Amino acid sequence: MRASGDPSATEAGNAAGGNAAGGNTEAGNTAAADRRGPSYDVLVVGGGIIGLVTAWRAALAGLRTAVADPGPGGGAARVAAGMLAAVTELHYGEQMLLGLNLASAARYPEFTAELEAASGRDIGFRACGTLAVALDSDDRAHLRELHALQERSGLASQWLSGRECRRLEPMLAPGVRGGLRVDGDHQVDPRRLATALLTACERAGVVFHRTFCERLEVARGRASGALLADGTAVSAGQVVLAAGSLSGKLAGVPEGVAPPVRPVKGQVVRLTVPRAFAPFLSRTVRAVVRGQDLYLVPRENGELVVGATSEEMGWDTTVTAGGVYELLRDAHELVPGITELPLTETLAGLRPATPDNAPVLGPTTLPGLLVATGHHRNGVLLTPVTGDAMAHALITGELPEWARPFAPSRFTAPTVPVREEQYA
Ligand code: GLY
Repeated sequence: MRASGDPSATEAGNAAGGNAAGGNTEAGNTAAADRRGPSYDVLVVGGGIIGLVTAWRAALAGLRTAVADPGPGGGAARVAAGMLAAVTELHYGEQMLLGLNLASAARYPEFTAELEAASGRDIGFRACGTLAVALDSDDRAHLRELHALQERSGLASQWLSGRECRRLEPMLAPGVRGGLRVDGDHQVDPRRLATALLTACERAGVVFHRTFCERLEVARGRASGALLADGTAVSAGQVVLAAGSLSGKLAGVPEGVAPPVRPVKGQVVRLTVPRAFAPFLSRTVRAVVRGQDLYLVPRENGELVVGATSEEMGWDTTVTAGGVYELLRDAHELVPGITELPLTETLAGLRPATPDNAPVLGPTTLPGLLVATGHHRNGVLLTPVTGDAMAHALITGELPEWARPFAPSRFTAPTVPVREEQYA
């Protein structure tokens, strides 16, 4: 599965052949096994954070698990800011998603402890809270609406005057008109998260095939494995499609079974706060500026992530002058001092989005084929619950009850029996 601009492809350290037979040492020991190709209980197609957490949880549950990806640990997590923003990213009509987001946010401290112990790596979880501010009266009206929705949904958020916002964050522009203090929306460093998941997978015995997946194999009406780009034919009892926005494009997936995901481009810039300027911001600061979501996420190591555009551009990951200009212009309106900071990186990634902006998880109508994608703006936030839901589905054959609203079947048109007389 390839597409130009696929972020998981850009970092492809194509280590193909090496792992193909050798990764599964026992399976690779005999000539017969070599001819057949390696065999696993679970093959995960895609090694972004969603594929990795699925593989890690599956391996911990005792399933022989492999991942196919030319650059595991890459993908959208390399670009994401890592906000765990269940409350500040609440939208009308997404009440069902809110429940999943809150459950995953609540899981984060325990998930962090478990992953850090398993990998020996710090993932940069920071319980810093978020401040969403308004720059003009339109923004303030928008934030008031959000506040009302949050209160109706039983969420903790506090309205602050402009002065109170600046007391919390003195670098904010003097013109800030008010804001919402949300102490429960935290952050994690997605790059560290991806690296830790990769290590945890390796330590749990997950095999990595560092190459593309070319085609799903189907035998006797069920998914039976995949053909990889290096020629390896992998057999698997179950296959999980977790290839982000490319998950709907794998050859061999029968019509109507592929998840309805599309790429939504996001450009971000990274700045560095020199030690002499610290603390520049003490928490995530966000706003809606001219109708666009803007956020500044400060990390303890001095990195400041400013994001993000939201563009329907197919699989294009070009960083544009216009995208960077708008981000910096809007961020400067919010926090004028950012123009003093060194600009260290510009990057674009692809959010996998579904028609209802919620993830698509669990078994498909093709036996043996599962999906875990469509996390759109919430991939980092939803990583813990996705791992739990997918491991449950791989072991029992069905999603846990709390995850069933996110099953792929919600996008399958109900089959209405048609009576012949209707044509009469
Ligand atoms: N969750 C932030 C974004 O998708 O830009």
